[in-house]
Amino acid sequence: MAIVVSYDEAILSRKQRIRDDGNWTARVDYLVSPPDAPERPQAFISEQGPGRHLPTHFHYTDQFQVFIRGGGTNGHHPISPYQVHFARKHTPYGPLNADQDTGCWFFTLRPRRDPGAQYLSENREKLESIPNRMPWQISADVRFPADSIAASSAQIEGVDDERGLAGTAISLRSNASTLAPSAQNSDGQYIVVLEGSIVYGGKEFDSKTLVYVAPGEAPFELVSGAKGMQAVALNFPRAASCSANPPAQRSPAAQEAGDEADREFNVWACVLCSFVYDEAEGLPSEGIAPGTRWEDVPEEWCCPDCSAKKSDFEMVKI
Ligand SMILES: [Fe+2]
Repeated sequence: MAIVVSYDEAILSRKQRIRDDGNWTARVDYLVSPPDAPERPQAFISEQGPGRHLPTHFHYTDQFQVFIRGGGTNGHHPISPYQVHFARKHTPYGPLNADQDTGCWFFTLRPRRDPGAQYLSENREKLESIPNRMPWQISADVRFPADSIAASSAQIEGVDDERGLAGTAISLRSNASTLAPSAQNSDGQYIVVLEGSIVYGGKEFDSKTLVYVAPGEAPFELVSGAKGMQAVALNFPRAASCSANPPAQRSPAAQEAGDEADREFNVWACVLCSFVYDEAEGLPSEGIAPGTRWEDVPEEWCCPDCSAKKSDFEMVKI
């Protein structure tokens, strides 16, 4: 049976701390995965006070983050509500810098217990010694479908892989219902109610209510209250059955540009998080024009996902 936890219930667990850098953080537990039951799902809201700096780190479990309030940056990526970040286990990301004025609030959602952040650079050797690592991450903005019909849903672009990773944005008008996507071919599913409310077991649960659906369970029936509802359903991918890293993929446009170049464009990948820099595509969002050779990328440039140095990239043959 699905587990439903309301914000009102979770907030009772809120613990605030002053960190070494003088900034505050707080944690609101929804689902606790104790050391003696590590297979239980683990979910909480992390509140990062204004200016809080969370260094680049990785985890031992797959993880979704859903940004719900405030802003800042994750690596080079601006963060804002509502945005989803998925990182496979053993994938470094960050640093996470909370906005100087507003701070930053986000859900952290895991299929099972994680022992805690493994910070780089002190844990770099530990990271590189993990066999058959398949690092990968994606950040995606959530766009809710227009509520022109009672129930509508849309895939969250980019949040998918060959092992069942999936993200779906769901809108319900008032007093409507729909079945959430199946969790059958996943490693578990979270549904985060971001706006409005749901009705479950005869009670109304306001945002930010959290639902956990285990892999073998039937699809969860979402029923909205009088204000309607907007939610995201997030499916974890099944465990990998292959041991090799997926080959870097070149986009059709980059392939075409590469074909037309006098000499072949190369592709470089971050050895820590597998972020790919394709010389043919460049990185216009970072001011690096298409066709910029690796040797012409500024020395001070660093990985937009995990902040690794340029020297932490290796050429990938396609
Ligand atoms: Fe990286």
